[in-house]
Amino acid sequence: MADPVLTVAERLRPTFAKIAGGKESDPVVRRSDRADAQVNGSLALAKVLGKTPREVAQMVLDAADLSAVCSATEIAGPGFINITFSNSFLASELAVAAADSRLGVRLSPAPEVVDIDYSAPNVAKEMHVGHLRSTVIGDALVRMLEFVGHRVIRENHIGDWGTPFGMLIEHLIDLGEAEAANELSVGDLDSFYRQARTKFDASDEFKERARARVVLLQGGDDETLRMWKLLVGESTRYFDRVYRVLDVLLTSDDIMGESAYNHLLAEVVERLKKSGMLQTSDGAEVVFVDGFVNRDNEPLPLIIRKTDGGYNYATSDLACVIDRVERLGATRILYVVGAPQAQHLEMVGVVSRKAGWVPETTQMVHVAFGNVLGNDRKILKSRSGEVVKLDALLTEAVERAGTSVREKNAELSAEQQSEIARQVGIGAIKYADLSTDRIKDYVFDWERMLSFDGNTSPYLQYAHARICSIFRKAQIERQSVRSVTPTLEHEAERALALRLLQFDTAVWDTLDKYSPHRLCTYLYDLASEFSSFYEHCPVLRAESEAQKMSRLALCDFTARVMERGLSLLGIEAPEQM
Ligand code: ARG
Repeated sequence: MADPVLTVAERLRPTFAKIAGGKESDPVVRRSDRADAQVNGSLALAKVLGKTPREVAQMVLDAADLSAVCSATEIAGPGFINITFSNSFLASELAVAAADSRLGVRLSPAPEVVDIDYSAPNVAKEMHVGHLRSTVIGDALVRMLEFVGHRVIRENHIGDWGTPFGMLIEHLIDLGEAEAANELSVGDLDSFYRQARTKFDASDEFKERARARVVLLQGGDDETLRMWKLLVGESTRYFDRVYRVLDVLLTSDDIMGESAYNHLLAEVVERLKKSGMLQTSDGAEVVFVDGFVNRDNEPLPLIIRKTDGGYNYATSDLACVIDRVERLGATRILYVVGAPQAQHLEMVGVVSRKAGWVPETTQMVHVAFGNVLGNDRKILKSRSGEVVKLDALLTEAVERAGTSVREKNAELSAEQQSEIARQVGIGAIKYADLSTDRIKDYVFDWERMLSFDGNTSPYLQYAHARICSIFRKAQIERQSVRSVTPTLEHEAERALALRLLQFDTAVWDTLDKYSPHRLCTYLYDLASEFSSFYEHCPVLRAESEAQKMSRLALCDFTARVMERGLSLLGIEAPEQM
């Protein structure tokens, strides 16, 4: 167990159990500002035993053997035990973690099949910054879940079905297929959608055609389906281009759009009818969900089938649940979807549980996120007031990063410079998104995200590259210091070691709340502590060869944690920048 806080908790567990004499007890060990760790469990145990917490704390210290891990213990305040880890213990734990390719990060004791629904842009519509957030957060979660041993099923639930396709197909016919394909393939999805919408609103004749086309589409008419596929194909090719530039794991194999559930929609209706949950309301078939009301405090239904016989967004989400549980065997379902869809997803969850489709042990989690705002604190728009096009945004990030990369690395070839610019630019975009608590809105700010100072991706990447350059300068293979057990003489070495040993906890805390910003904060703290270590502890000009090797071992382990941490966030770590 890498994190010394956990090790102490494990060591104290039998002691607490013995003192509690069969009653429930937990040492409750936490990180603390006063010491390396604090044991708080005596307080609860004292109540159970009818003693004072300080008495219990003393009993714990008398009974426990912490000599191998602690250099000092002290009873403080009402009955806390403050603990200082011994340097030799920290150093040997570090050596163990450094010998481990997982850098001390535990595997899940109970691996699951985790289905994760993320990205999900809509066909023939521009991917917007909300889809960017879902894609980036989802990608980081996929990487972390896989790293700790879960089987992860990625699903891109693209919006590729429903009434808008009537008008989109009719517009495609009006434009001519070649011209339409041309417009869509350059990624001008919004203007295509808008043109169709404008005609739909202005012309009754077009509206009629669009309606008739939806009927043909839903009826499976071959020619209509062919044109629909054309629209979907052009859009998904565009999405895929964005994914490649963004360097995320999603591929076209992960697409499971709304249309993929058509064959299950009648089944959803059938099952709901059988279980007596389906009702008719204003001609539509609906399920009323306990506890949900509209603005006028009237019961709010989930609409399953509309008056015209068409199915709804909710219906395909219910079909999804059946598919994910029954066909894919998912034991956990995550939805990385914007906060405004909270009520919808909650209702889908309640209905599918009530219908008995989701086993009790299967979690359904809405991993919600806030908006991306511009400097004016309104939803991010381009200068001309339109939706920001994602591919243009990514290009701009790489261009902007290029300016500082060329300046800082004049000695590198143009090719190397542009590769680093790509890694820095894309990393900056992702990190800006991941490092804010996902539930909050965040302000998209080029200056800040590309800065080499502060809690940014370039700062972390730079810390990593700097370590790589120390080894280059010393002409020492990084591998060669991996068996060195460091000595922790200086306060800054000790602080760095403590932080390095917390990587495991940082990854698990992040997964616990599906909050990538926790891992970001950890990596930022690590980079800051490395910086202070590097300032106070000369590495290549150390006092002795042994001290130099010890410090190089700390450097190497820091770089490995940084690189692994960034890669879990989907961010590359260049060796030079
Ligand atoms: N396509 C939807 C949108 O752009 C997101 C879909 C989310 N996933 C889901 N299963 N409903 O808002």
